[in-house]
Amino acid sequence: MIRLATIGTSAITRRLIEVVGLTEGITVTAAYSRDAARGRAFADSVGVVGAFSDLATMLSSDIDAVYIASPNTAHDEQALAAVRAGKHVLVEKPAVTSAAAWDRLCAEARDHGVVLLEAMRTEYDPGLDVIRELLGSLGTIRRVQLSYQKRSSRYDQVLAGERVNIFDPAMAGGALMDLGVYCIHALVSLFGEPDTVRGAWVTVASGVDGAGSALCTYPGFVAEVMYSKITTSRLPSEIQGEQGTLLIDQIAAPSSLTVEMLDGTSTTRALPAVPHVLVGEVERFVDLVETSGDATHDQHLTAATLRVIDAIRAESTPDQTRI
Ligand SMILES: NC(=O)c1ccc[n+]([C@@H]2O[C@H](COP(=O)([O-])OP(=O)(O)OC[C@H]3O[C@@H](n4cnc5c(N)ncnc54)[C@H](OP(=O)(O)O)[C@@H]3O)[C@@H](O)[C@H]2O)c1
Repeated sequence: MIRLATIGTSAITRRLIEVVGLTEGITVTAAYSRDAARGRAFADSVGVVGAFSDLATMLSSDIDAVYIASPNTAHDEQALAAVRAGKHVLVEKPAVTSAAAWDRLCAEARDHGVVLLEAMRTEYDPGLDVIRELLGSLGTIRRVQLSYQKRSSRYDQVLAGERVNIFDPAMAGGALMDLGVYCIHALVSLFGEPDTVRGAWVTVASGVDGAGSALCTYPGFVAEVMYSKITTSRLPSEIQGEQGTLLIDQIAAPSSLTVEMLDGTSTTRALPAVPHVLVGEVERFVDLVETSGDATHDQHLTAATLRVIDAIRAESTPDQTRI
Protein backbone atom coordinates (compact mmCIF):
# COMPACT_ATOMS: atom_id res chain seq x y z
CA MET A 1 0.00 0.00 0.00
CA ILE A 2 1.47 3.36 -1.05
CA ARG A 3 1.34 5.84 1.83
CA LEU A 4 0.77 9.23 0.21
CA ALA A 5 1.26 12.65 1.81
CA THR A 6 -0.30 15.78 0.35
CA ILE A 7 1.06 19.32 0.01
CA GLY A 8 -1.51 22.11 -0.28
CA THR A 9 -4.89 22.47 1.38
CA SER A 10 -7.05 23.84 -1.43
CA ALA A 11 -9.95 22.25 -3.31
CA ILE A 12 -7.76 20.29 -5.73
CA THR A 13 -6.08 18.41 -2.86
CA ARG A 14 -9.50 17.50 -1.47
CA ARG A 15 -10.52 16.17 -4.90
CA LEU A 16 -7.32 14.17 -5.18
CA ILE A 17 -7.85 12.66 -1.72
CA GLU A 18 -11.39 11.63 -2.75
CA VAL A 19 -9.96 9.85 -5.79
CA VAL A 20 -7.25 8.15 -3.76
CA GLY A 21 -10.07 6.84 -1.60
CA LEU A 22 -11.56 5.18 -4.71
CA THR A 23 -8.25 3.71 -5.88
CA GLU A 24 -6.70 0.44 -4.76
CA GLY A 25 -3.10 0.31 -3.58
CA ILE A 26 -2.82 3.85 -2.25
CA THR A 27 -3.95 5.72 0.83
CA VAL A 28 -3.38 9.22 2.17
CA THR A 29 -1.63 9.13 5.54
CA ALA A 30 -0.35 12.69 5.98
CA ALA A 31 -1.07 16.25 4.97
CA TYR A 32 1.25 19.26 4.93
CA SER A 33 0.27 22.89 5.34
CA ARG A 34 2.50 25.88 5.99
CA ASP A 35 0.20 26.60 8.91
CA ALA A 36 -0.09 23.96 11.67
CA ALA A 37 -3.69 24.75 12.65
CA ARG A 38 -4.86 24.81 9.04
CA GLY A 39 -3.02 21.56 8.37
CA ARG A 40 -4.63 19.82 11.36
CA ALA A 41 -8.10 21.10 10.44
CA PHE A 42 -7.61 20.02 6.83
CA ALA A 43 -6.33 16.56 7.81
CA ASP A 44 -9.28 16.08 10.19
CA SER A 45 -11.77 17.18 7.54
CA VAL A 46 -10.52 14.56 5.08
CA GLY A 47 -9.90 11.81 7.62
CA VAL A 48 -6.12 11.84 7.45
CA VAL A 49 -4.14 11.00 10.58
CA GLY A 50 -0.86 12.86 10.10
CA ALA A 51 -0.64 16.66 9.88
CA PHE A 52 2.68 18.45 9.38
CA SER A 53 3.75 22.06 9.08
CA ASP A 54 7.42 21.28 8.55
CA LEU A 55 8.08 19.73 5.16
CA ALA A 56 11.41 18.13 6.09
CA THR A 57 9.80 16.41 9.08
CA MET A 58 7.00 15.04 6.91
CA LEU A 59 9.48 13.86 4.30
CA SER A 60 11.41 11.93 6.93
CA SER A 61 8.22 10.31 8.29
CA ASP A 62 6.68 6.98 7.27
CA ILE A 63 5.42 7.95 3.84
CA ASP A 64 6.23 6.57 0.39
CA ALA A 65 5.01 9.32 -1.89
CA VAL A 66 3.97 12.95 -2.07
CA TYR A 67 1.28 14.77 -4.06
CA ILE A 68 2.14 18.44 -4.62
CA ALA A 69 -0.65 20.96 -5.18
CA SER A 70 0.92 24.24 -4.17
CA PRO A 71 1.23 27.33 -6.40
CA ASN A 72 3.28 26.64 -9.54
CA THR A 73 6.51 28.28 -8.41
CA ALA A 74 6.66 26.15 -5.24
CA HIS A 75 6.54 22.80 -7.08
CA ASP A 76 10.19 22.59 -8.06
CA GLU A 77 11.71 23.03 -4.60
CA GLN A 78 9.12 20.82 -2.90
CA ALA A 79 9.45 18.07 -5.51
CA LEU A 80 13.24 18.20 -5.29
CA ALA A 81 13.11 17.88 -1.51
CA ALA A 82 10.74 14.90 -1.79
CA VAL A 83 12.81 13.16 -4.45
CA ARG A 84 16.00 13.64 -2.42
CA ALA A 85 14.20 12.13 0.56
CA GLY A 86 13.53 9.05 -1.60
CA LYS A 87 9.79 9.70 -2.03
CA HIS A 88 7.81 9.19 -5.24
CA VAL A 89 6.24 12.42 -6.50
CA LEU A 90 2.97 13.23 -8.24
CA VAL A 91 3.10 16.95 -8.97
CA GLU A 92 0.26 19.14 -10.22
CA LYS A 93 0.35 20.77 -13.63
CA PRO A 94 2.33 22.65 -14.76
CA ALA A 95 4.90 20.42 -13.07
CA VAL A 96 7.48 23.20 -12.96
CA THR A 97 7.92 26.50 -14.73
CA SER A 98 10.55 25.67 -17.37
CA ALA A 99 11.79 22.70 -19.38
CA ALA A 100 15.27 23.07 -17.89
CA ALA A 101 13.90 22.79 -14.34
CA TRP A 102 11.92 19.68 -15.31
CA ASP A 103 14.99 18.04 -16.89
CA ARG A 104 16.96 18.62 -13.67
CA LEU A 105 14.15 17.18 -11.57
CA CYS A 106 13.81 14.10 -13.80
CA ALA A 107 17.55 13.48 -13.52
CA GLU A 108 17.30 13.69 -9.72
CA ALA A 109 14.34 11.29 -9.71
CA ARG A 110 16.32 8.82 -11.85
CA ASP A 111 19.34 9.12 -9.53
CA HIS A 112 17.16 8.47 -6.46
CA GLY A 113 15.18 5.65 -8.07
CA VAL A 114 11.78 7.26 -7.53
CA VAL A 115 8.78 7.89 -9.77
CA LEU A 116 8.21 11.49 -10.82
CA LEU A 117 4.93 12.14 -12.64
CA GLU A 118 3.07 15.29 -13.62
CA ALA A 119 -0.61 15.12 -12.61
CA MET A 120 -1.73 15.94 -16.15
CA ARG A 121 -5.26 14.56 -16.06
CA THR A 122 -5.81 15.07 -19.83
CA GLU A 123 -3.10 12.57 -20.68
CA TYR A 124 -4.76 9.81 -18.65
CA ASP A 125 -8.31 10.55 -19.81
CA PRO A 126 -9.55 7.67 -21.99
CA GLY A 127 -11.04 10.31 -24.31
CA LEU A 128 -7.58 11.22 -25.58
CA ASP A 129 -7.05 7.69 -26.89
CA VAL A 130 -10.40 7.82 -28.69
CA ILE A 131 -9.32 11.10 -30.32
CA ARG A 132 -6.08 9.41 -31.35
CA GLU A 133 -8.03 6.52 -32.93
CA LEU A 134 -10.32 8.89 -34.85
CA LEU A 135 -7.47 10.85 -36.42
CA GLY A 136 -6.97 8.15 -39.04
CA SER A 137 -10.47 8.72 -40.46
CA LEU A 138 -9.92 12.44 -41.15
CA GLY A 139 -7.48 12.19 -44.08
CA THR A 140 -4.38 14.35 -44.11
CA ILE A 141 -4.47 16.68 -41.11
CA ARG A 142 -4.19 20.35 -42.08
CA ARG A 143 -5.33 22.31 -39.04
CA VAL A 144 -5.64 21.72 -35.31
CA GLN A 145 -7.40 24.16 -33.00
CA LEU A 146 -7.31 23.34 -29.32
CA SER A 147 -9.03 25.66 -26.94
CA TYR A 148 -9.57 25.98 -23.20
CA GLN A 149 -11.13 29.33 -22.42
CA LYS A 150 -13.09 29.73 -19.23
CA ARG A 151 -13.57 32.91 -17.27
CA SER A 152 -12.36 32.40 -13.72
CA SER A 153 -14.41 33.70 -10.82
CA ARG A 154 -11.06 34.73 -9.33
CA TYR A 155 -10.65 37.27 -12.17
CA ASP A 156 -13.20 39.40 -10.30
CA GLN A 157 -10.71 39.57 -7.41
CA VAL A 158 -8.03 40.77 -9.83
CA LEU A 159 -10.43 43.43 -11.12
CA ALA A 160 -11.03 44.45 -7.50
CA GLY A 161 -7.28 44.94 -7.05
CA GLU A 162 -6.72 41.84 -4.92
CA ARG A 163 -3.71 39.53 -5.20
CA VAL A 164 -4.64 36.00 -6.27
CA ASN A 165 -2.01 33.27 -6.69
CA ILE A 166 -3.37 31.98 -9.97
CA PHE A 167 -3.17 35.49 -11.48
CA ASP A 168 0.14 36.34 -9.79
CA PRO A 169 3.28 36.48 -11.95
CA ALA A 170 5.40 35.74 -8.84
CA MET A 171 3.53 32.40 -8.54
CA ALA A 172 3.83 31.63 -12.29
CA GLY A 173 0.09 32.15 -12.61
CA GLY A 174 -1.78 33.16 -15.74
CA ALA A 175 -3.91 31.56 -18.41
CA LEU A 176 -1.11 29.79 -20.29
CA MET A 177 0.22 28.04 -17.19
CA ASP A 178 -3.22 27.25 -15.82
CA LEU A 179 -5.35 26.31 -18.85
CA GLY A 180 -3.18 26.61 -21.97
CA VAL A 181 -0.97 23.87 -20.56
CA TYR A 182 -3.78 21.29 -21.02
CA CYS A 183 -4.10 22.14 -24.72
CA ILE A 184 -0.35 22.10 -25.30
CA HIS A 185 0.09 18.79 -23.51
CA ALA A 186 -2.71 17.26 -25.61
CA LEU A 187 -1.16 18.74 -28.75
CA VAL A 188 2.29 17.25 -28.13
CA SER A 189 0.74 13.96 -27.02
CA LEU A 190 -1.29 13.68 -30.25
CA PHE A 191 1.14 15.18 -32.76
CA GLY A 192 4.58 15.51 -31.15
CA GLU A 193 6.55 18.68 -30.69
CA PRO A 194 5.91 21.47 -33.20
CA ASP A 195 8.63 22.79 -35.52
CA THR A 196 7.97 26.44 -34.72
CA VAL A 197 5.97 28.31 -32.08
CA ARG A 198 4.69 31.89 -31.93
CA GLY A 199 2.37 33.47 -29.39
CA ALA A 200 0.44 36.57 -28.42
CA TRP A 201 -1.45 37.40 -25.28
CA VAL A 202 -3.42 39.98 -23.36
CA THR A 203 -1.97 41.11 -20.02
CA VAL A 204 -4.26 41.73 -17.05
CA ALA A 205 -3.68 44.23 -14.25
CA SER A 206 -1.78 41.74 -12.08
CA GLY A 207 0.82 41.33 -14.83
CA VAL A 208 0.03 37.82 -16.12
CA ASP A 209 -1.54 36.73 -19.38
CA GLY A 210 -5.32 36.64 -19.03
CA ALA A 211 -5.89 35.27 -22.52
CA GLY A 212 -3.64 34.28 -25.38
CA SER A 213 -3.01 32.22 -28.48
CA ALA A 214 -0.12 30.20 -29.80
CA LEU A 215 0.47 29.31 -33.42
CA CYS A 216 2.50 26.17 -34.00
CA THR A 217 3.70 24.69 -37.26
CA TYR A 218 4.11 21.01 -38.15
CA PRO A 219 5.05 19.47 -41.46
CA GLY A 220 1.88 19.95 -43.55
CA PHE A 221 -0.35 21.52 -40.92
CA VAL A 222 -0.74 24.33 -38.44
CA ALA A 223 -2.00 24.18 -34.88
CA GLU A 224 -3.57 26.98 -32.90
CA VAL A 225 -3.88 26.87 -29.15
CA MET A 226 -6.30 29.30 -27.49
CA TYR A 227 -6.51 29.81 -23.76
CA SER A 228 -8.21 32.29 -21.49
CA LYS A 229 -9.11 32.83 -17.85
CA ILE A 230 -10.90 36.14 -18.48
CA THR A 231 -13.38 35.09 -21.18
CA THR A 232 -15.32 31.94 -22.03
CA SER A 233 -15.42 30.18 -25.39
CA ARG A 234 -18.54 28.31 -26.48
CA LEU A 235 -16.75 26.66 -29.41
CA PRO A 236 -15.38 23.11 -29.42
CA SER A 237 -11.79 22.22 -30.25
CA GLU A 238 -11.33 20.97 -33.82
CA ILE A 239 -8.99 18.78 -35.80
CA GLN A 240 -9.42 19.33 -39.52
CA GLY A 241 -8.34 16.75 -42.08
CA GLU A 242 -8.81 16.87 -45.85
CA GLN A 243 -11.60 14.25 -45.60
CA GLY A 244 -13.27 15.17 -42.32
CA THR A 245 -13.31 17.30 -39.18
CA LEU A 246 -13.30 16.11 -35.58
CA LEU A 247 -15.05 18.31 -33.03
CA ILE A 248 -14.06 17.82 -29.39
CA ASP A 249 -16.40 19.32 -26.81
CA GLN A 250 -13.69 19.83 -24.14
CA ILE A 251 -10.08 19.02 -24.79
CA ALA A 252 -9.23 18.70 -21.09
CA ALA A 253 -12.08 16.25 -20.41
CA PRO A 254 -13.63 15.04 -23.67
CA SER A 255 -17.17 13.72 -23.34
CA SER A 256 -18.53 14.09 -26.86
CA LEU A 257 -16.62 13.64 -30.12
CA THR A 258 -18.22 14.36 -33.50
CA VAL A 259 -16.71 13.45 -36.86
CA GLU A 260 -18.16 15.32 -39.81
CA MET A 261 -17.01 13.88 -43.12
CA LEU A 262 -16.67 15.58 -46.49
CA ASP A 263 -19.54 13.44 -47.85
CA GLY A 264 -21.93 14.97 -45.28
CA THR A 265 -22.05 12.04 -42.85
CA SER A 266 -21.76 12.93 -39.21
CA THR A 267 -21.13 10.59 -36.27
CA THR A 268 -21.17 11.61 -32.63
CA ARG A 269 -19.58 9.45 -30.00
CA ALA A 270 -20.60 10.07 -26.39
CA LEU A 271 -17.75 8.86 -24.21
CA PRO A 272 -18.54 6.87 -21.08
CA ALA A 273 -18.48 9.15 -18.07
CA VAL A 274 -15.28 8.68 -16.08
CA PRO A 275 -15.92 8.36 -12.32
CA HIS A 276 -13.68 11.35 -11.68
CA VAL A 277 -11.37 13.31 -13.97
CA LEU A 278 -8.38 12.69 -11.68
CA VAL A 279 -8.76 8.88 -11.63
CA GLY A 280 -6.48 8.23 -14.61
CA GLU A 281 -3.49 10.12 -13.24
CA VAL A 282 -3.78 8.47 -9.82
CA GLU A 283 -4.04 4.99 -11.39
CA ARG A 284 -1.03 5.69 -13.60
CA PHE A 285 0.98 6.86 -10.59
CA VAL A 286 0.04 3.79 -8.53
CA ASP A 287 0.93 1.49 -11.41
CA LEU A 288 4.33 3.14 -11.91
CA VAL A 289 5.16 2.96 -8.20
CA GLU A 290 3.91 -0.61 -7.70
CA THR A 291 5.68 -2.02 -10.76
CA SER A 292 8.78 0.20 -10.58
CA GLY A 293 7.59 1.22 -14.03
CA ASP A 294 9.21 3.54 -16.51
CA ALA A 295 7.82 7.08 -16.48
CA THR A 296 10.15 8.25 -19.26
CA HIS A 297 7.40 8.64 -21.88
CA ASP A 298 5.19 10.64 -19.50
CA GLN A 299 8.18 12.78 -18.50
CA HIS A 300 9.08 13.42 -22.16
CA LEU A 301 5.57 14.72 -22.82
CA THR A 302 5.87 17.09 -19.85
CA ALA A 303 9.30 18.20 -21.09
CA ALA A 304 7.98 18.82 -24.62
CA THR A 305 5.01 20.77 -23.21
CA LEU A 306 7.32 22.95 -21.13
CA ARG A 307 9.60 23.57 -24.14
CA VAL A 308 6.56 24.82 -26.07
CA ILE A 309 5.60 27.04 -23.12
CA ASP A 310 9.19 28.34 -22.94
CA ALA A 311 9.00 29.11 -26.67
CA ILE A 312 5.61 30.83 -26.41
CA ARG A 313 7.03 33.13 -23.77
CA ALA A 314 10.21 33.78 -25.73
CA GLU A 315 8.46 34.32 -29.06
CA SER A 316 5.33 36.13 -27.97
CA THR A 317 4.12 39.62 -28.60
CA PRO A 318 2.28 40.57 -25.43
CA ASP A 319 -0.27 43.29 -25.78
CA GLN A 320 1.23 46.22 -23.92
CA THR A 321 -2.12 47.47 -22.63
CA ARG A 322 -2.90 46.19 -19.15
CA ILE A 323 -6.60 45.63 -18.72
N1 LIG B 1 -5.66 19.21 -12.10
C1 LIG B 1 -6.59 20.11 -11.89
O1 LIG B 1 -7.74 19.96 -12.27
C2 LIG B 1 -6.20 21.34 -11.08
C3 LIG B 1 -7.19 22.18 -10.59
C4 LIG B 1 -6.81 23.28 -9.81
C5 LIG B 1 -5.47 23.52 -9.57
N2 LIG B 1 -4.52 22.67 -10.09
C6 LIG B 1 -3.09 22.91 -9.82
O2 LIG B 1 -2.91 22.75 -8.43
C7 LIG B 1 -1.93 23.67 -7.95
C8 LIG B 1 -2.55 24.49 -6.84
O3 LIG B 1 -3.52 25.33 -7.39
P1 LIG B 1 -4.54 26.15 -6.44
O4 LIG B 1 -5.33 27.06 -7.30
O5 LIG B 1 -5.23 25.20 -5.54
O6 LIG B 1 -3.47 27.01 -5.63
P2 LIG B 1 -3.62 27.88 -4.29
O7 LIG B 1 -5.02 27.75 -3.76
O8 LIG B 1 -3.10 29.23 -4.56
O9 LIG B 1 -2.60 27.16 -3.31
C9 LIG B 1 -2.70 25.78 -3.02
C10 LIG B 1 -2.14 25.53 -1.64
O10 LIG B 1 -0.77 25.85 -1.60
C11 LIG B 1 -0.46 26.52 -0.35
N3 LIG B 1 0.09 27.84 -0.69
C12 LIG B 1 -0.58 28.98 -0.94
N4 LIG B 1 0.27 29.99 -1.20
C13 LIG B 1 1.50 29.47 -1.11
C14 LIG B 1 2.80 29.99 -1.28
N5 LIG B 1 2.97 31.29 -1.58
N6 LIG B 1 3.86 29.17 -1.13
C15 LIG B 1 3.68 27.86 -0.81
N7 LIG B 1 2.46 27.30 -0.63
C16 LIG B 1 1.40 28.09 -0.78
C17 LIG B 1 -1.75 26.64 0.43
O11 LIG B 1 -1.76 25.64 1.42
P3 LIG B 1 -1.25 25.98 2.91
O12 LIG B 1 -1.32 27.47 3.10
O13 LIG B 1 -2.19 25.25 3.78
O14 LIG B 1 0.17 25.47 2.95
C18 LIG B 1 -2.83 26.36 -0.57
O15 LIG B 1 -3.90 25.61 -0.09
C19 LIG B 1 -1.49 24.49 -9.15
O16 LIG B 1 -0.29 23.95 -9.66
C20 LIG B 1 -2.62 24.32 -10.15
O17 LIG B 1 -2.20 24.42 -11.49
C21 LIG B 1 -4.87 21.60 -10.82
